[in-house]
Amino acid sequence: MRPARALIDLDALRHNYRLAREMSGARALAVIKADAYGHGSVRCAQALEAEADGFAVACIEEALVLREAGIAAPILLLEGFFEADELALIDQHDLWCVIHAQWQIEAIEQARLSKPLTAWLKLDSGMHRVGLHPAYYQHAYRRLLASGKVSKIVLMSHFARADEPECERTAEQLAVFQQARDGLSAEVSLRNSPAVLGWPQVPSDWVRPGIMLYGATPFEQAQQQAARLQPVMTLESKIISVRELPAGEPVGYGARFVAERPTRVGVVAMGYADGYPRHAPTGTPVLVDGQLTRLIGRVSMDMLTVDLTDLPQTGLGSCVELWGKQVLASDVAMAAGSIPYQIFCNLRRVPLVYVGG
Ligand SMILES: Cc1ncc(COP(=O)(O)O)c(C=O)c1O
Repeated sequence: MRPARALIDLDALRHNYRLAREMSGARALAVIKADAYGHGSVRCAQALEAEADGFAVACIEEALVLREAGIAAPILLLEGFFEADELALIDQHDLWCVIHAQWQIEAIEQARLSKPLTAWLKLDSGMHRVGLHPAYYQHAYRRLLASGKVSKIVLMSHFARADEPECERTAEQLAVFQQARDGLSAEVSLRNSPAVLGWPQVPSDWVRPGIMLYGATPFEQAQQQAARLQPVMTLESKIISVRELPAGEPVGYGARFVAERPTRVGVVAMGYADGYPRHAPTGTPVLVDGQLTRLIGRVSMDMLTVDLTDLPQTGLGSCVELWGKQVLASDVAMAAGSIPYQIFCNLRRVPLVYVGG
């Protein structure tokens, strides 16, 4: 059997969820959209369900997968509904719903629901993607309430630059939010992972941690709170071939690496078809039998090559950690010009193996 696989440590997932709660002192919706950032949404939800205040996904399709697996906890649709007829399913499956546009309010007014909805009213406080305009926010709130179709409204917004600790934009967005919601007495949800980790002064009755649940930092620089996270995924494989090359010989497609000295090359069963970033350059960290070394040459579809020259005890069958508890996914992502969010979401073909019950 091909040795490539991703171990998913569910104890680490629970540890990170508890940290999000502890750091924020708030209730926390575990963001498990995009198949829990590649970690498997059903298993992650099952591992958290006994303690989680709820979950958040992007869309109804993702929510229904969880309901079909028996997840009964609250589930928030972060993009709400895309078409009015989804409201029937939202009603049937008891889903919470972000409302970010006027047409959605009109659809709710006209909907026939068996019971009132829990709505999260999203303000565009400066990210300028989705969300209601500040000038319309209070009107939207009153309109929703007057519809008689909602039982609860949570006031929410989303930060564009909370991962930049020195950036003033987060405070500016907060000020826009505070002004827009002035006088409304309702619960508030503002903080995603970087805001949970780095912006303790931002109020939030509900936090929405995503990337931190998976133990990866959203920051480019070292950050004290992020250092407390435990990586959840270990992407691992084995050395399946070894080559001894004299100086001057190239390795792999495009001869991107040419040996400067006699070089022992290890070939790993892992490639970009598994989601390992093709743009990871020579020098990207890799762990072989617990020892740090580097990727060399171009990543191929099913294989990549590593430098074993200074690791004489390693060889055929040696264990390779592409990222995990020692080689951080965020470091691999940065080397490849990406972010941990993307390299997790890109994972495919490798089996997910759950540990920690
Ligand atoms: C509205 C909303 N809240 C929370 C999150 C989670 O963000 P993070 O993974 O940075 O914690 C996302 C993710 O994109 C989001 O769109």
